[in-house]
Amino acid sequence: MDGYTNSTYGDAFADVYDDWYHDVSDAEATVDFIAEVASERADLPVLELGVGTGRLAVPLAARGLQVVGVDASAAMLAKLADNDSSGLVICHLGDMVDGLPAGPFAVVFVAFNTFFNLLDAARQRACFAAVAACLSPDGAFVIETFVPEPRSGSSVAVRSMTTDTVVLTVATHDEATQTAQGHYISLSEADGVRLRPWAIRYATVEQLDEMAALAGLGVSERWEDPNHKEFTADSPRHITVYRTNHRRVRPEGGPTS
Ligand SMILES: C[S@@+](CC[C@H](N)C(=O)[O-])C[C@H]1O[C@@H](n2cnc3c(N)ncnc32)[C@H](O)[C@@H]1O
Repeated sequence: MDGYTNSTYGDAFADVYDDWYHDVSDAEATVDFIAEVASERADLPVLELGVGTGRLAVPLAARGLQVVGVDASAAMLAKLADNDSSGLVICHLGDMVDGLPAGPFAVVFVAFNTFFNLLDAARQRACFAAVAACLSPDGAFVIETFVPEPRSGSSVAVRSMTTDTVVLTVATHDEATQTAQGHYISLSEADGVRLRPWAIRYATVEQLDEMAALAGLGVSERWEDPNHKEFTADSPRHITVYRTNHRRVRPEGGPTS
């Protein structure tokens, strides 16, 4: 999409993000999951890529973990500051590939499909490499994404409708490039038209594992969700823990490398 940059999504959605997405995934279970993975190295901080408004980072920091968050959108980080009244989360305005904080981190995590905001395979590979470089030797990289299904073409749907506002979603999908892009379009008599653009490049779990391997990381655990539901061939999403030394920390966990 012409003109789309690292901060476009965050700047476009910051004003509605908490309202629209506060319950988009099980935040409490995700925080439990990250806290458990980080518990072996409680002396080290954790880093969230694309921290947004702090939906996960703020409750994680409230548990006593040292939490650092990176986000490309100043508007998102301003919302995070509002949500983090105790100022517990250390925020960096920046890219989740280039110029990550040095670490070392016990855990780096990227939740709720945020990794797919990196819009081509090269940027996604570079992110794995950047994360591997700032993890502690026994650290973990946790990724949560949907499992993509082949899809091409375009779609239009209604997200919400009231007597004075309708929100439409339009999207195009390209299976060949594994990309999708679209807009949430708010139409209101009082406020006129507001466009909220988004774009993603999705990757299969096999492709993620290949990128991880190039960065020297291997699968330690894979689950369908942060409640440790078994990951199967039919799972619509996954949460995967990659580790530098390929340790298998939950013997009953999903496939290992
Ligand atoms: C879907 S939101 C997720 C926010 C939060 N992690 C959550 O789970 O609610 C994606 C976030 O990633 C940020 N983002 C997108 N591309 C980025 C990039 N290249 N570098 C840093 N942050 C980025 C956006 O600004 C946005 O805040």
